[in-house]
Amino acid sequence: MVTRAILAGSGGYLPQKVVTNNDLAAEFGIETSDAWIIERTGIRQRHIAAKGETASEMGAAAARQALARAGMSGSDIDLVIVATSTPDSAFPATAVKIQGMLGATRGFAFDVAAACTGFVYGLGLADSLIRTGQARCALVIGTEVYSRILDWTDRGTCVLFGDGAGAVVLTAAEGRGDASDRGILSTHLHSDGRFGEILHIEGGAGSTGGTGLLRMAGKEVFRHAVSKLASVVDEALAANNLGHGDVRWLIPHQANLRIIDAMGKKLGLPRERVVVTVDKHANTSAASIPLALADAVGRGVIERGDLIVFEGIGGGLTWGAALARY
Ligand code: ACO
Repeated sequence: MVTRAILAGSGGYLPQKVVTNNDLAAEFGIETSDAWIIERTGIRQRHIAAKGETASEMGAAAARQALARAGMSGSDIDLVIVATSTPDSAFPATAVKIQGMLGATRGFAFDVAAACTGFVYGLGLADSLIRTGQARCALVIGTEVYSRILDWTDRGTCVLFGDGAGAVVLTAAEGRGDASDRGILSTHLHSDGRFGEILHIEGGAGSTGGTGLLRMAGKEVFRHAVSKLASVVDEALAANNLGHGDVRWLIPHQANLRIIDAMGKKLGLPRERVVVTVDKHANTSAASIPLALADAVGRGVIERGDLIVFEGIGGGLTWGAALARY
């Protein structure tokens, strides 16, 4: 018997303010169009945090929904991992703040910085900590306020991102140790610092300069995304002696519909088995995968025993995949 981390609940939170593609042109004065954004990315709208609304508040809201769906409360939690590139402050960690907001006093909490791959990294860490008995009940949260790190004069990036948070509750359970088990089967994490410049934040808390804003070489990122995501998904399936035909759901990082479609095709999945939410909230970075999971679970389409592939790529470069049976 082995210990597995079961997906016990998922939740999401999106700020109230919705900004459509047309609003970007009309209200924000950005030289763009609904047609250009939809054709290149599939994005129709994004949510923008209210003035003063923080990553910790949004993450706590998503976590509360995940806990409620799991039939649990903050006092059950002994590990909180928050993936974010937009923490409230360098410390206390956003995870520790959320731990406090939820009334969780046991165990430990920390943040992960892996940009858009942060949630997959968080799943990998939580899975390892649960398997080794250091935690029994974990919250993995992605929460982002990218609207505060965007250069609103750069139409090549500002139209692509939005704010939001997503969360999952993972609980320890016994499994047989093969791919028929429920829970996380394996996680596969990668990074390559040689490509740091193609997607980065200019400056930061410990830096001597820079604007603190996001910079991206879009075409380069696109090229890496398609090849690296395809190879890491195959790596995850091979590690479990599974093939494309075993996959029931693809829940990808929600950055760009063209990348998502390419991955769905590669796996031979019909469109309805690929969870797409990028149209509704744009790229919410580390929050996008748990938001998509919460959306699909909320619609009641994922059934117990279904095999799910999670995959993502982001600044670093970082990329990774996780395989889980619901
Ligand atoms: N509205 C209208 N026109 C625009 C806009 C805009 N918002 N942005 C750029 N353009 C123009 C450019 O100026 C350029 O005009 P030109 O031909 O006159 O010079 C033209 O559109 C084409 O620009 P490209 O940048 O070449 O457009 P491309 O087809 O590469 O699409 C995009 C850009 C959508 C960013 C694409 O490269 C992409 O999706 N890349 C991947 C990005 C991504 O997924 N990032 C997230 C992954 S990691 C993470 O989540 C942080």
